[in-house]
Amino acid sequence: MKALTPKEIVKELDRFVIGQDKAKRSVAIALRNRWRRQQADERIRNEILPNNIIMIGPTGVGKTEIARRLAALAQSPFIKVEATKFTEVGYVGRDVESIVRDLTYMAVDMVEKEQEERVRQRAEELADERLMDLLFPVESKEKLDEEEHERINKTRDRLRAMYEEGKFEERYVEIDAPVKKPNISGISVLGPGDGGLGGDMMDNPGEFINEAMSSLLGKKKTKKQKMKVPEARKILVEEESQKLIDRNKVIEEAMDRVQHHGIVFVDEIDKIAISSEGKGGADVSRQGVQRDLLPIVEGSTVKTRYGFVKTDHILFIASGAFNVSKPSDLIPELQGRFPIRVELDSLTTEDFVNILTHPQNALIKQYQALLHSEDVDLVFEKAAIREIAQKATDVNDKTENIGARRLHTIMTQILDDIMYNAPDDRKKIVITPENVRESLESIVTDDDLSRYIL
Ligand SMILES: Nc1ncnc2c1ncn2[C@@H]1O[C@H](COP(=O)(O)OP(=O)(O)OP(=O)(O)O)[C@@H](O)[C@H]1O
Ligand SMILES: [Mg+2]
Repeated sequence: MKALTPKEIVKELDRFVIGQDKAKRSVAIALRNRWRRQQADERIRNEILPNNIIMIGPTGVGKTEIARRLAALAQSPFIKVEATKFTEVGYVGRDVESIVRDLTYMAVDMVEKEQEERVRQRAEELADERLMDLLFPVESKEKLDEEEHERINKTRDRLRAMYEEGKFEERYVEIDAPVKKPNISGISVLGPGDGGLGGDMMDNPGEFINEAMSSLLGKKKTKKQKMKVPEARKILVEEESQKLIDRNKVIEEAMDRVQHHGIVFVDEIDKIAISSEGKGGADVSRQGVQRDLLPIVEGSTVKTRYGFVKTDHILFIASGAFNVSKPSDLIPELQGRFPIRVELDSLTTEDFVNILTHPQNALIKQYQALLHSEDVDLVFEKAAIREIAQKATDVNDKTENIGARRLHTIMTQILDDIMYNAPDDRKKIVITPENVRESLESIVTDDDLSRYIL
């Protein structure tokens, strides 16, 4: 993993996020500072405070997008949580420590996937070897003389060539395969407490205990099953790659990654800040959540199913619109832990034009890719793009300002017929400003309709 310099980080972010230069700069510095802190002399390292950030800005201007892209380019485990989803310790609801646990599980998943990718080719070779043996069992070779040996090898080479051409994909083989079980692993992360097996246990106690026992004994339930070659290949590749991957190393690497590279994005932080007027019951509870958040932001140790995770170097990025409350309404200790404040700008029509066209995942590129699958060339005239951007601005002004999200709804509306009718006899579709106006006309002029459709 290469540590990027702030300038490199901003350059990468520029590929996805338009404008918001201040915010990009701040997150780039924060990310780099974490790395710098980790390089610092041990005696001073723990004295250096982390660079947690609060991003302040209206909805749909790129706050989450910046954080998400930052995490992706740093190859960091990343989790986004809503501050309002948490309740104080002792109340029913999610406790804040689950953030760190979920982040850890995500890191394990991430490292596991990387390792799988790394051994994939070898695992595929091994699986193919096993499939060949299943399709064409070799009898004991001991009694064979050299001539026979050679003959068998030749046959096998020919069969292998046919196998590689996919000639046996329709054949059935019998393998020991894991017994299919609904949603055991899916639910377990969501349950209460560490590992949260609550959900399974309540649904089906017998099943649960069986599963727990066999995983304690280190074996999965398997059964001999007949299946077609492609399905068997999937299972065998999985099996071989599990054998090639060192599970302890995966966990070790994941623990390191979560502690040194983890990023937690706390959305809607403004909703747990209390404006100076309110001091009611709900406010007390919000303040409770802030108090609970404090230790993990300050640096504490959280128990997870893979061991203890220190949160000292996890980067926290909070975000909120702060329409009603202000960052200074947060409890002082928490404010102190988010020393960097950065405001994001509202997006202009010009920004919308750029958002539609420039980012790697720009909406126009997305639609073009979709239609490309049907050999249809979708072209937007320059003026049409400007018209879409203008309409987005108009509707945002007239109804509710949802920022760049407006572009999604408008594009859906404009391209609705085209997406429905394709493929037709047209190989090239050009969107003109008139097309844009026409498809939006009846809606944009009617405020109520706009509210529902755009
Ligand atoms: N500056 C931008 N550049 C490129 N795309 C953007 C930008 N701002 C928003 N978008 C697009 O709009 C969508 C919504 O943006 P995002 O999720 O970042 O909003 P947000 O600022 O986090 O809003 P909220 O406060 O509602 O969470 C994103 O999926 C992204 O495609
Ligand atoms: Mg967001």
